[in-house]
Amino acid sequence: MTDTKLDIPFGRPWIEDLERDAVMEVLSGHILTHGPNCHAFEEGFAKMMGSGHAVSTSSCMASLHLSWIDAGIGPGDEVLLPAMTHVATAHAVALTGATPVFVDAELTTGNMDMDDMAAKITDKTKAIGIVHYVGIPMDMVKVMALADKHDLLVVEDCALAVEARVDGTHVGLFGHTGCYSFYPVKHITCGEGGMLVSKDAETVKRIGEFRAFNYDRSGDGPKVPGLYDVKGLGMNYRMSEMQAALGRVQLTRLPEIMRIREANFRALQKGLTAIPNIHVLDSGEARLKSSFYCTIALLQGDLAERRNEIALALNAAGVGTSIYYPHPIGRLRYYRDRFGYDADRFKGATALADNAIALPCGPHLNESDMADIAACMARIV
Ligand SMILES: Cc1ncc(COP(=O)(O)O)c(C=O)c1O
Repeated sequence: MTDTKLDIPFGRPWIEDLERDAVMEVLSGHILTHGPNCHAFEEGFAKMMGSGHAVSTSSCMASLHLSWIDAGIGPGDEVLLPAMTHVATAHAVALTGATPVFVDAELTTGNMDMDDMAAKITDKTKAIGIVHYVGIPMDMVKVMALADKHDLLVVEDCALAVEARVDGTHVGLFGHTGCYSFYPVKHITCGEGGMLVSKDAETVKRIGEFRAFNYDRSGDGPKVPGLYDVKGLGMNYRMSEMQAALGRVQLTRLPEIMRIREANFRALQKGLTAIPNIHVLDSGEARLKSSFYCTIALLQGDLAERRNEIALALNAAGVGTSIYYPHPIGRLRYYRDRFGYDADRFKGATALADNAIALPCGPHLNESDMADIAACMARIV
């Protein structure tokens, strides 16, 4: 490594002329929403997963909200959720009136601790909201066994988990639904956007209709444009054709994106693991295939207290960093005021929030960048 400042952003969308042309083609036509690009993106996404069905939405949070409404949870129900996640995971449950009950994280993978999860089941528990932490898949075989034993519904928040698989099955296809995000720093982007998937075609059809006002155009009457009936309550959580055109083309880059992500992750994992007191989170088992969203360096021992100082020093040297996530949900003001928060009961989630740094491994970087990040980290610590 030289003394020149590095240029290693945390994330950068990979957009080329193929994407620009696809969006321009939409703008040159007259179908700007729920048209052929949305259908092609949905079909392409289901094909990428290998099985199941998909419907496009306006965001991952919209997909989560739709899932919980469809699941019929509401006031008086408890839903188990990870303490360590994005606030969208909790908001989607809280918006229904149900009570989120937080489960601590374990520090090998950052995912929910199965023992804590089992201990928090009460007779009010109706469901489990799984999050595959930074794309490291939870062992869905164990989750579904616990859920089946207690008759609980499962929704998977797969915001960062495109291409994550458990025993070869794509995440999102184990529970009731799976929810994806296409926000700019994600594996593929639409600017904003989401996907809702399920192994059950009927579930995707039903939620897809709810997502679009619950319009019903299937009546026996004349097929006059603008004529419709409405089956029930609904939302407008649709994706536009411009977004879908972007996503459809991005999907074709996914094999290359995944190849680079994994190679970068492995290179950085090796470099960081050689530094004392740094633990890199990983699935730990070949049957649990990660999406390699980013590289979480958990600082331990003397380094743990120095997280903010180390992140700022990396930034000053030109290495982009992030934090996944800045607080256990219960420590966020709204949730703390409403449900209270006890750091001692969320030791794992608190350690990830306060002592971990998220480092990049996206396709805008290469293995030489990974060597630079590791060298920079070694020098700083
Ligand atoms: C686990 C998780 N769920 C949900 C979201 C929200 O995704 P969106 O911005 O598409 O609503 C994020 C965003 O990063 C996330 O990390």
